[in-house]
Amino acid sequence: MAHRLITHLLKDLTNMRTKIIAGNWKMYKDLNESAELLNGLKTKLAVLPNGVKAIVCPPFTSLALAKTLLEGSPIAIGAQNMYHEDEGAFTAEISPKMLKSVGCQYVILGHSERRQYFKETNEFINTKAKKALASGLIPIICVGETLEEREKNITDQIVSVQVKGCLKDISSADAEKLIIAYEPVWAIGTGKVATPQQAQEVHQLIRKLIGQLYSWATAEKVVLQYGGSVKPENAKELLHQPDIDGALVGGACLKADSFAAIVQAAA
Ligand code: PGA
Repeated sequence: MAHRLITHLLKDLTNMRTKIIAGNWKMYKDLNESAELLNGLKTKLAVLPNGVKAIVCPPFTSLALAKTLLEGSPIAIGAQNMYHEDEGAFTAEISPKMLKSVGCQYVILGHSERRQYFKETNEFINTKAKKALASGLIPIICVGETLEEREKNITDQIVSVQVKGCLKDISSADAEKLIIAYEPVWAIGTGKVATPQQAQEVHQLIRKLIGQLYSWATAEKVVLQYGGSVKPENAKELLHQPDIDGALVGGACLKADSFAAIVQAAA
């Protein structure tokens, strides 16, 4: 309770963390569909609310188009994954250098779908996070428990192991730059959103853990996003929790109207 109150007060006084709303397009939108969505977003989000950032993360095939179409727009670009080498014989992989050349500033790492279908481990995600940071990309590192883990009451342990594993050997100067997205797996694409209280509890746990791993000053700077069925209707309440600094949006980012509404809700 005391922690919550102090965080609230500090946040109100200094407004220290920018709210960051990122849209993870996943494997949706071919080139024409991407152009339509990007143009819609460019119009609807021509000016971002004060203290709010918006990021689009289209599939690799639409990144260069995003760079062109979002010229002059305040919307930033991110990728959904990357490999941890600059170049080489790694068929079908994409390097941080390539991502930067198509205008990316951010990269999502360790999304639960990558963990589930492509067997990505905390160790692998950590390797990629270090490379992203060294390359000047800001990683959005995803963590979150499955339904089974929540029902077994081991959410805290699972999320702590993920956060520690993904942050291993990352300096505090680098940790301050990154974004951690808490995405309970049971809430992704299911329409079942975590309650603001459930989300806040885990966000607070993550921030405390970062405080232990680094310092409270570092913990106060790290942006923590919530992800999992974020919609215009539930965004405001989630985004006004003291430790929720943004959202990683899947389904609702595929329409310009709903993504723009979520960005507005962060104001
Ligand atoms: P969702 O996806 O908003 O469709 O639940 C979130 C995510 O996977 O990042």
